[in-house]
Amino acid sequence: MSEVAWQECINPTCGARVDIQDQTFACPKCTGLMDISYQWKLIPVPRRMKAFARRWAQRNERLNFSGVWRFRELLKFAPEQDMVSLGEGQTILQNSRALADYVDIEPPNIFLQYEGLNPSGSFKDNGMAGAFTHARMVGAKTVACASTGNTSAAVAMFASAAGMQAVAFIGSGKIAYGKLAQALDYGARTIQIEGDFDVCMRRVQQVAERLGLYMMNSINPFRLEGQKAIMYRVLEGLNWQVPDWIVVPGGNLGNSSAFGKAFMELQKLKLIERVPRMAIINAAGADTLYRLVEQEKMKWNDGRCDPELEKKFFEQMDSERRSAKTLASAIEINRPVNLRKCLRALDVCSGLVRTVTDEEILDAKAMVGRSGLGCEPASAASVAGLRKLRAEAVIGKNERVVCILTGHALKDPNVTVDYHTEVNLGQIEKYQRVGVKRANLANRPVVVPDDLDKIIEAVGL
Ligand code: F0G
Repeated sequence: MSEVAWQECINPTCGARVDIQDQTFACPKCTGLMDISYQWKLIPVPRRMKAFARRWAQRNERLNFSGVWRFRELLKFAPEQDMVSLGEGQTILQNSRALADYVDIEPPNIFLQYEGLNPSGSFKDNGMAGAFTHARMVGAKTVACASTGNTSAAVAMFASAAGMQAVAFIGSGKIAYGKLAQALDYGARTIQIEGDFDVCMRRVQQVAERLGLYMMNSINPFRLEGQKAIMYRVLEGLNWQVPDWIVVPGGNLGNSSAFGKAFMELQKLKLIERVPRMAIINAAGADTLYRLVEQEKMKWNDGRCDPELEKKFFEQMDSERRSAKTLASAIEINRPVNLRKCLRALDVCSGLVRTVTDEEILDAKAMVGRSGLGCEPASAASVAGLRKLRAEAVIGKNERVVCILTGHALKDPNVTVDYHTEVNLGQIEKYQRVGVKRANLANRPVVVPDDLDKIIEAVGL
């Protein structure tokens, strides 16, 4: 077993260790989730975070150009020659004065971490840099994932670049057009299953085991290593100051889990003095985490989560045939696979969970668009969630807040065009069933005949 890095069960009461080369991604002793652990003494980690920023000056070197591998000492599980990069992580932390009023935060304290700038248009590319590096280390030829769209787009892109075959399991009618277009265009074998994301997730695990495929979902701990870098770049964007809050949408809970691990490690390495608080935002129609944490009071409890509570919760969900329904299709998930890792992250970051309605999500999305960045519906949950937490006075007006914008506006053009064009959104079945009544911030196109005077009148200046 490598002395520098290994896989380790996240449950401290189990603590089983597995070699870095293993690709099972489940604890052999207790079947729980795995982490990547490091012998930090053997890794030349800089004493200050600032040292990483110097690599910007050497960004003509492949690994320094990557917004993940620029921080490579903090995820050093692979030799440098194996590190896969498509130029991921060229993202910006945007100070968004334009949103300050909307979310009721004193400018300049509201920031947006815009992950839509990644090569495949979402934060997933950070994770794929990590997971494809491991896939290359173990000689994988075919990689598989279940997806609500962005994972499949990113897997398809990285696989085609790395000369591997991708297999993507998607729920039929469940993913946004931009994402489906990407998976098809990059040559992924795309399996559309009659069912939702949770069905696809279960099936892909069975199929991967049977056929020996390499799993690219966020149960793959190497993916989450890559996603830690989103937080390193947030700190970099704030000149290495720790914000008061990170607000992030919650779906399969990979991001929140990765962020928690990043802060846990940075604190242990004495690279930061304090940890920010974290707010995870569920869509109201896909609120498993909210119910478990805020209503059932499920806690990490040093790894001794209450398995009975969890079991009962999901049994009840099945017996009531409750299933996730939200226009934010990226987070339309019932059974988040990283639940326990996320509970640990909530513990580390004194976190909390809130829900926002689809109408709140769509309005927040329109505001993000107007502020100059644009994002897909799931991403806007972070901004809608911040607005809610301000209204509740949980977050202070003068606190410094970073909302994560997880995916690009062009991922889901249909919802955007519907929002801005349909006068009575609530009369369309798709919107009615998730409780959306109005597009409160619609920017309607003006229809005019081909008549110069009428056109000039329509321009309205
Ligand atoms: N935002 C976007 C745009 C996403 O695509 C996802 C997840 C999330 C938020 C939620 O992140 O799972 O880390 O809590 N998309 C996955 C997929 C599930 O298959 O593309 P999470």
